Amino acid sequence: MDIRHRRTIRKYTQQPVSDELLNRLIEDASRTQTMGNLQLYSVVVTRSAAMKELLAPAHFCQPMVTQAPVVLTVCADFRRTTDWCLQRQAAPGYDNALSFLNAATDALLFTQTFCCLAEEEGLGICFLGTTVYQPQAIIAALELPELVFPVATLTVGWPAEQPEQTDRLPLQAIVHQETYSPFTPERIDACYARRESLPENKHFVQINNKETLAQVFTDIRYTRKDNEAMSEGLLAALTGQKFLQEGAMQGSTPTVVERRPDVLECDVVRFQNKKEKWVAFVGLLDDAPYEIFTGLQDDDEGIAIPKSVQKGFIVKHYDRDGQKRYDFQFVNKRGYKTTIEGLSERFNPEYWDYAKLISGVLRYRMPIDHVIRLISSLQLENDTINSWTAGVARVLKKYLPDAQQLPEEEDTEEK
Ligand SMILES: Cc1cc2nc3c(=O)[nH]c(=O)nc-3n(C[C@H](O)[C@H](O)[C@H](O)COP(=O)(O)O)c2cc1C
Repeated sequence: MDIRHRRTIRKYTQQPVSDELLNRLIEDASRTQTMGNLQLYSVVVTRSAAMKELLAPAHFCQPMVTQAPVVLTVCADFRRTTDWCLQRQAAPGYDNALSFLNAATDALLFTQTFCCLAEEEGLGICFLGTTVYQPQAIIAALELPELVFPVATLTVGWPAEQPEQTDRLPLQAIVHQETYSPFTPERIDACYARRESLPENKHFVQINNKETLAQVFTDIRYTRKDNEAMSEGLLAALTGQKFLQEGAMQGSTPTVVERRPDVLECDVVRFQNKKEKWVAFVGLLDDAPYEIFTGLQDDDEGIAIPKSVQKGFIVKHYDRDGQKRYDFQFVNKRGYKTTIEGLSERFNPEYWDYAKLISGVLRYRMPIDHVIRLISSLQLENDTINSWTAGVARVLKKYLPDAQQLPEEEDTEEK
């Protein structure tokens, strides 16, 4: 079939697609160009009703999965190449994000060539993007080993429908001459005018109670909430298949741990509050602040630790009578471990209570820039406490990815 006449087919006749035809199409499609001619893909053929039933939920039960005679899952595959290297005294280094992208590129190029050849043969195809929405379910169903990742699914069969062809955006929407030319409002209007004027799209907007076609996409079909949730699953599955390293994403979203670990690493940060010298102990989990204790330095009732101490541990301790307290532990220059017991008792109870509230917010992983803004916006009853909160906000700035984003506070320099 001429590509100008092609369309997606979602309904199929009962006529089988023979192994002979399928294998010929796959073999011909393997003439597709691939990176280093490594052919970093593999195809899992599903014909049995039981396996289709197993796959269907991963594709949100789209009916084509169980109705098509053949379902193909095309995978980015560095497993075979890696095994080949290992068997030939070669050291593979393909368990990383770049290798995933390379293998996914090969797999998708192969997929598209297969689609063109199959459609030329008169077969009907539907590409299922749901493959990357819940990849873990497909990995489990097809028993995909590490370094194999599903990137495309095709339902294949002889057409039992001849739907209308869908529209396409005009050339000016996709082509840029020499450099990328920005989309002015007029150009956007010109690119989307035809699509927005189609009766079926107007109907779509109306039945969904939306004002524009774009809103149907953002609010219903592909929402931020769904995209973010499925992105998390995607990253977890890529980690499980060893294309990403464990913990690679931890920096961006530290996990919520409700039960405080017994021992937390901590940073010791000195700051000034109304000419007084203060110290903050910032407990860290996954390198992100989890709790904060603050108090006066060098005071009888405060805390005295050598200036050189920048790091230590906050240790949760239960007395014999079950009373909980927090101790600070550090190793001094001579290598001796020193414990300062009862951080809480050493500090003014009012500050302690505010610090507890701030720790609650940190523990549930509110992004640090929001925590700083929240603390900075507090209007407490006296100037000393307001100056303290400014000091705490300044301490927390240390943990911002980009400290320049927030305005400087006065009178609260870190010391
Ligand atoms: C990445 C991708 C994901 C898709 N996912 C689905 C899908 O999950 N279900 C479906 O019915 N069609 C799916 N399609 C088919 C598109 O809806 C279809 O190609 C598009 O609407 C244009 O229609 P046409 O192929 O008939 O020209 C997908 C196509 C692509 C390329």
